Amino acid sequence: PRPRVAMMVRSSNAVSAASILTKLHSDCATPLPLLRQVSHAMAADMRAGLAADGASDLKMILSFVDSLPTGDENGLYYALDLGGTNFRVMRVQLGGKEGRVVATEFDQVTIPHELMFATSEELFDFIASKLAKFVEKEGGKFESRRGRTREVGFTFSFAVKQTSINSGVLIKWTKGFAVSGTEGRDVVACLNEAMGRQGLNMRVSALVNDTVGALAGARYWDDNVMVAVILGTGTNASYVERVDNIPKLHAPKSAGGSTIINTEWGAFSRGLPLTEFDREMDAASINPGQQIFEKTISGMYLGEIVRRVLHRMAEDATLFGDSIPEKLQMPFSLRTPDICTMQQDSSKDLEVVGSILYDVAGVNSKLESRKIVVDVCETIAKRGGRLAGAGIVGILQKMEGDSKGAVFGKRTVVAMDGGLYEHYPEYRRHLQDAVTELLGPEISKNIIVQHSKDGSGIGAALLAATNSIYPH
Ligand code: GLC
Repeated sequence: PRPRVAMMVRSSNAVSAASILTKLHSDCATPLPLLRQVSHAMAADMRAGLAADGASDLKMILSFVDSLPTGDENGLYYALDLGGTNFRVMRVQLGGKEGRVVATEFDQVTIPHELMFATSEELFDFIASKLAKFVEKEGGKFESRRGRTREVGFTFSFAVKQTSINSGVLIKWTKGFAVSGTEGRDVVACLNEAMGRQGLNMRVSALVNDTVGALAGARYWDDNVMVAVILGTGTNASYVERVDNIPKLHAPKSAGGSTIINTEWGAFSRGLPLTEFDREMDAASINPGQQIFEKTISGMYLGEIVRRVLHRMAEDATLFGDSIPEKLQMPFSLRTPDICTMQQDSSKDLEVVGSILYDVAGVNSKLESRKIVVDVCETIAKRGGRLAGAGIVGILQKMEGDSKGAVFGKRTVVAMDGGLYEHYPEYRRHLQDAVTELLGPEISKNIIVQHSKDGSGIGAALLAATNSIYPH
């Protein structure tokens, strides 16, 4: 019988891990001129996407959110958040200008992996059942809406073609979801039907992308918030755009006003420094050729890119001794939180790196290999953070280009959220460095890139309030 894969002899090409690393460094390099090109391409793709549907990688989706929260919102609202890894339900008691957010309470569940491949009905029934459990208990600081319709802001973090503030058709699943029967359907109808099956008296008043929720949530506290970016399992950005700058809206001349645009920038693809590992990962994904920016910079993929590099180093350069660890061959066995933890290891012998490699890849590693592993993590995180920074600058430059001085000439806030941004300090630092390098010291003083935690949940509740039709 053939020996098990773990025992298989490596191919005999004698490359060193150091030479693979050197090539990785050069393939992933993000010098300033490259970042500038990425920013320009992002801005140009935004314009193309605003001109006509289908004209750009960036869909530039109209959110139908034309007025942002003011602070006057009042009453009890719910928020439902279906994102990447988790599903959250939230109740928010709003108290107007004086009280603001009086109380919040939430429940979070990890989405069972099999549901990502289930039918639409199964997925939405799961959501509605969790919601029903949560709704049962009101009280404490929360007003009761027993016997009355409860209103929900539904944060659905996928590309949706909105048809109104409370309806929209799923264009495409991303982030590993392959649920059948939802694409092309109104996701609010899917949810309403499932809520009906649970006997819930609830209504979706606002359907929002997570970036749109985050923008609304952050704007509630700070009038200078103009852009919101999610860096989590996936990535995306939305921003405030003037209606006059959206040719595809065919609005009457000088209609005025502004609205939020969901860029869906995860689909951006121009001028990115990609490696053979990125190409192989993309080819093996369930959406090859799509979401290239997302696959290069977001949390679902960074660990997997590192795993592929390490696997190659094990195979071609005996990084972990004579055999290729079996676990290391398993796609997605190394997760982004793992590579982040490895980068934090400040012990002399890199013990944490050693134990993660042992747990995840099943290998006993020497100090020398551990150092290489940390370097690979840093290389991939640095490329991701810097490209994310260039994307942000692209959006800001687009806005500034249309409104000389209105963005760079005053305090402008970019609200950031998502687990990757929140929990990966090196990534965050690289992102900020790129923003500062690209904008220069003067302008970057005005541009505040800051974490705004859980904005998207509260933001969705606020938008449900803004668009409420039931008396509170
Ligand atoms: C994916 C989705 C997008 C979402 C982002 C962040 O890119 O397509 O809608 O905002 O992930 O969650």
